[in-house]
Amino acid sequence: MKEKLSVLLVGGGGREHAIATALKKSARLARLICAPGNAGIAQLCECFPVSATDIEGQVKLAKEQGVDLVFVAPDDPLVLGLCDRLREEGIAAFGPSAAAARIEGSKVFSKDLMKKYSIPTASYEVFDDVFAARAYLKARGEYPIVLKAEGLALGKGVLIPENEEEAMDALKELMEDKKFGSAGNRIVIEEFLTGPEVSVLAFCDGKNYVTMPAAQDHKRAFEGNLGPNTGGMGAFCRTPNYTEEIEQICHREIFAPTVRAMAQEGCPFTGVLYFGLMLTPKGPRVIEYNARFGDPETQAVLPLLESDFLEILLAVNEGRLDECDVRFSDKAAFCLVIASGGYPGAVEKGFPITGLDKAEETGATVYHAGTANKDGTVVTSGGRVLGVVTVRDTLAECRDASYAAASHIRFDKMRMRSDLLKDY
Ligand code: AMP
Ligand code: GLY
Repeated sequence: MKEKLSVLLVGGGGREHAIATALKKSARLARLICAPGNAGIAQLCECFPVSATDIEGQVKLAKEQGVDLVFVAPDDPLVLGLCDRLREEGIAAFGPSAAAARIEGSKVFSKDLMKKYSIPTASYEVFDDVFAARAYLKARGEYPIVLKAEGLALGKGVLIPENEEEAMDALKELMEDKKFGSAGNRIVIEEFLTGPEVSVLAFCDGKNYVTMPAAQDHKRAFEGNLGPNTGGMGAFCRTPNYTEEIEQICHREIFAPTVRAMAQEGCPFTGVLYFGLMLTPKGPRVIEYNARFGDPETQAVLPLLESDFLEILLAVNEGRLDECDVRFSDKAAFCLVIASGGYPGAVEKGFPITGLDKAEETGATVYHAGTANKDGTVVTSGGRVLGVVTVRDTLAECRDASYAAASHIRFDKMRMRSDLLKDY
């Protein structure tokens, strides 16, 4: 690899703004471009209007721009095989092959992998027939229970009915009404687990892995952890729930066995592997894997990275992560998400956003998620709009600092949770 690299970042949310920020700090970066990007990323680098799922469009852009490395951040292009296509064309890519991305893209693949390699997870059954699923639920009769669509469903394909009536409705939604499209052709029905949830992200080069500090996100839409699940209304890093003892168990029973299992299955995992864990009274269990950086966890984790980000990405791609310096600060970080009214449902877009500079003058970093530039004004363009990130010595200081910074920001119908980090 050259000394200085030209990089294309694929994606355009808050996660990608945090990734772009980390890349810009690298001593090895020559030039950064992004597609499609957003109004915040456009302040850091040139953005191109190619959608993340336009696989051939992204390959063409990478070739035309002569980049040395493509960083594929979102799940859908990974599952669609963008990294494979780039490698076929002789272009280096950061991210797993489509075969390895099945660990996120197929619930059945990931559950069967865990079963085969004795990795602790909720017990489960797979169904592709709605009558069999209905009969199973009636015979089992234990609630709550968890129903998951087989494929990617924008993080929304998980239903947790509390009784038989709700379970029958949930089955109908998934398998008959096809609320999540073909993702609901097959479903997993699994045991309901309880306990705090933590997210551990790991750089992974196919055989070695290095974990990042554990994060936790706030999934529910409303105060008091009520309302529908969202992509995350906020995230914080260095969670007190993830003790050293739990960490040791996770390395032994979950992280190392998963990395080994993927290699043994012939699809070694390279990129960032995200372990969604539930710390149950019986020990940590895998709730889900993601084949990429999480959003909004990344906005709370990457600001703590002290080593050179691009150096780590190259070590991952060259299979020498074991020799690489991967260091994080021991401070705390918090990302407070500001969303559009109505999120996670349908939202109105195009409202001008004010106060961004004032918020940053307080010392916070504001990552853009759903924003666009309209005639020189930053306007809303999605459900999650901004992430207000602070790094401090303690989580309590982060909480106060992020809320103080966010108080300067205004747009029509804006919404954030007022109670984050009160209950961690
Ligand atoms: P997933 O998309 O798999 O992360 O699931 C979304 C959310 O559903 C998780 O973050 C959990 O809060 C919840 N969930 C998923 N699986 C289970 C389970 N087996 N038991 C309890 N809650 C679950
Ligand atoms: N915050 C969860 C995810 O990125 O899937």
